[in-house]
Parts: sequence; C-alpha cells; structure tokens
Amino acid sequence: MKITMIGTGYVGLVSGACFADFGHDVVCVDKDAGKIAAIESGRMPIYEPGLDHLVGSNAAAGRLSFTTDLGEGVKGADAIFIAVGTPSRRGDGHADLSYVYAAAKEIAAAVDGPTVIVTKSTVPVGTGDEVERIVREARSDVEIAVVSNPEFLREGAAIGDFKRPDRVVVGTTGDQRAIDVMAQIYRPLNLNQAPVMFTGRRTAELIKYAANAFLATKITFINEMADLCEAVGAEVQDVARGIGLDNRIGSKFLHAGPGYGGSCFPKDTLALVKTGQDHDAPIRIVETVVQVNDLRKRAMGRKIVKALGGEARGKTVALLGLTFKPNTDDMRDAPSIAIVQALEDAGATIVAYDPEGMDVAAPLMPQVTMAKDAYEAAKGADALVLVTEWDAFRALDLKRLAASMNQPTLVDLRNIYPIQEAQNAGFTLSRVGGKGTEK
Ligand code: UDX
Repeated sequence: MKITMIGTGYVGLVSGACFADFGHDVVCVDKDAGKIAAIESGRMPIYEPGLDHLVGSNAAAGRLSFTTDLGEGVKGADAIFIAVGTPSRRGDGHADLSYVYAAAKEIAAAVDGPTVIVTKSTVPVGTGDEVERIVREARSDVEIAVVSNPEFLREGAAIGDFKRPDRVVVGTTGDQRAIDVMAQIYRPLNLNQAPVMFTGRRTAELIKYAANAFLATKITFINEMADLCEAVGAEVQDVARGIGLDNRIGSKFLHAGPGYGGSCFPKDTLALVKTGQDHDAPIRIVETVVQVNDLRKRAMGRKIVKALGGEARGKTVALLGLTFKPNTDDMRDAPSIAIVQALEDAGATIVAYDPEGMDVAAPLMPQVTMAKDAYEAAKGADALVLVTEWDAFRALDLKRLAASMNQPTLVDLRNIYPIQEAQNAGFTLSRVGGKGTEK
C-alpha cells in the first residue's frame, strides 16, 4: 500500500514510521522545511523512545520518505492520512479544525486518482462529513472516500501502542473500497490478533473522545478519593487496588496524582464538553472532571506550602520532574506549570530538574532555576517535590538527598517512595491520598 501522512507531529511521525515498518510505502509531508530537514538528518522533533531508530531504519530501507511538497506526496496514494494538530480554539475550547480543513483543501487540489482520505487527528463528530464536502466540492472528477481512524497512542509508549493496540477503530460511510484499503493497511496487525473494528464514521469520531473522557474521569475519580483518604486517614493506593481487582473496574488509570495533563486529555475533555453542549446533550460528568482537574493542579502548590509548615516565603522548593508524564519532553498542560505558579505566588524560590523536559520547560517558567541533576536540585532546599515519576527518580539515594537539604521534607505527588524508606532516610513525608509520615 502506498500511504501519505500529512503532518509530522507526534501522531503523524509515529504512525508513518510504524506503517513503513509494517512494509507499506510511506511518504510523510510537512510544511515546515526545517522540521523535515531535521528528521531526514536523524534529529526527531519530539522525544519518543525508539522513534529515531524506527525512522532511520525504515528510511534506509527505502520505505519511508519525507517531503514538504504535498502535491508530490499524495501522488498515487492508496490512502492519505490527515494527522495535523487540532488544538483547543482560543477563547471557547472548541477544537480548532483550521489545519484539518486546510489539509483537506490541499489534498483536494492535488489528488490524481481514486484514494481514501483518513482523518487520524482527533476531530469532533461531523468533521469527516465536512472534509468530504470540501474534497467533493473541489473535485467531482475523482473517486474519494473519507474515513475516520482515531489514534490511541500514549506518549512515551506510542510505538508499542501502535504495533500492539487494544483495538483499531475505523469509521466509514459503508464504502467497500475504503473498507478494503483500511483492512489491507492494518492486516499486519492480524498477527497480534488486534481487533480492527469497523463502524460508522461519526461513531468512530465519538469513540476517541469517549475513550479519553472516560480515562480522564477515572483518574479524576481516584484523585478525589485521594483527597477523601487524606481527610479520613485511609490509603488511596489500597483503595485503588481494592476496587481495581474488580474486573468490571480494572486496575489501570487509578494512580492518584497531581491531575492529568498532556496533549490529549485536557483538550479532548473540553472539546467533548463543547460538543455535548452544542447538541443539547451536556456531558455533565466530564464538565465536572474538567473543573476538578483544573483546580487540582494549583491545589498541589498549596499542599507543598502546607508541607513547608504553612509558609513558603524565603524558602526553596526543588521539583523533580516537569513534563506531564515520564518518557516525553511534552510540557503541554503539565501540572508542574500550575504548581510553579502557585509556589511563586506564595513567595518560594524554585529549582527543578527533569531528564528530558528542561529545554521545553525553561521558557514556560523563566523564574525557575534548572539543575543538572536531582542531587543538585535538592541541595539546600526546604522541600523536595516529586512531580513526574521518571524511572531515574525511583532509585535515588534518599539519605544523600535528605542530608543535603536545609529541611528534609519530601512531597511525593506520585506515591512512588515507600513510606518506611523515606522515613529511614530522615524525611518528613507528604503523599497523595495517604496518611504520610511524621518524623
Ligand atoms: C492519552 C491516552 O492514554 C491515549 O490513548 C490518547 O490517544 C492520548 O492521550 P497520553 O496523554 O500520552 O495518552 O498519556 P497517559 O499515559 O494517558 O497520561 C495522561 C495523563 O494522565 C498524565 O498527566 C498522567 O500523569 C495522568 N495519569 C494517568 C494519572 O494521573 N493517573 C493515572 O493512573 C494515569
């Protein structure tokens, strides 16, 4: 199959490289010449484990190429994937579809034969209809079908998620040729017995939002449980295990923390809320999830001030981890941003270390001093705060950290440190959803 991928962002680049690895012939198109040149010379625009190798080996094998020329890129394509950004529209939170529609117009101008246009970008219900209208209006002479094929990739684990998905969702309007092309494209997954689910196009578009909103709800539920645990002296990790062992609930996405962030959950929950309101079918649970999660991030700043004894002015706080989760350099809607703001408002001096995110984070938080490692960050600090659970923070020498601090206070926002270990190292520990320890 010849596949064209429009957009070499997170989703486009990972999907393009994985399709090439399946043996398809893939051309990735991006307007940004600098980005294309960088990728071609082996520099990835994002940090994603294994991506550089996957791109390099498939490019070397001649299955993956890059261009800035969309017209050239779509020539002879069996399928053209639209994988451009759909950020939250400034002001009202609706998904901004201008990049998707611009891509549809350019594709319409360039297609040279029958093809399937696939939206991989996360787009609100009905976007496929509009893409189809745009292309048909411009080109009644070519046979096209528009399909929805949402992605469910987690940053940091995107290649594994692509190659071993829980499911693939393909939404069509019933066009048999489109169904056949999509079945061919995903046939290599048959080996892994991944279910490929064919459904209506609007349904596929909604499945993506429903999945992300449900996961965001699950996280927010356990986060509120964590607050209750703190209030009544219970342990949230045991509550999560106690409910998660029930197969109907499931144990995943029940880790209490500082609130969800990233490129998908905040944007997609908001967009679903807007879609519901626009169709007089408000999704009140998700409306509440959005509100609770927003407030939670700043509340973590207050939690840290409390751990400092109620006063942050003149004190130094060291943050471990800034990205919204480990194994990425993505800072979009990271809880650390609201935490830094709250601490700064409270008068604290802030030092931070993140294994991959500091370059992206620095311009977002100019007041923060970036350290070269966790030990340098902790030196002389009054509180050490674990914000993002990078593996590199799991086996730190807690005794050495505590001894180097002005005041050995540890705020573990991801509950990764065993209570006893932190206590033995001399820390006063504050956790999420647990009793914590007093020295
Ligand atoms: C998510 C979805 O998982 C993926 O299917 C979708 O396509 C894109 O959005 P991603 O944003 O990369 O992926 O990260 P994910 O691992 O889902 O975590 C999202 C946020 O939730 C992070 O801030 C993470 O720290 C938080 N989280 C996750 C929790 O706080 N607790 C959990 O139990 C799980």
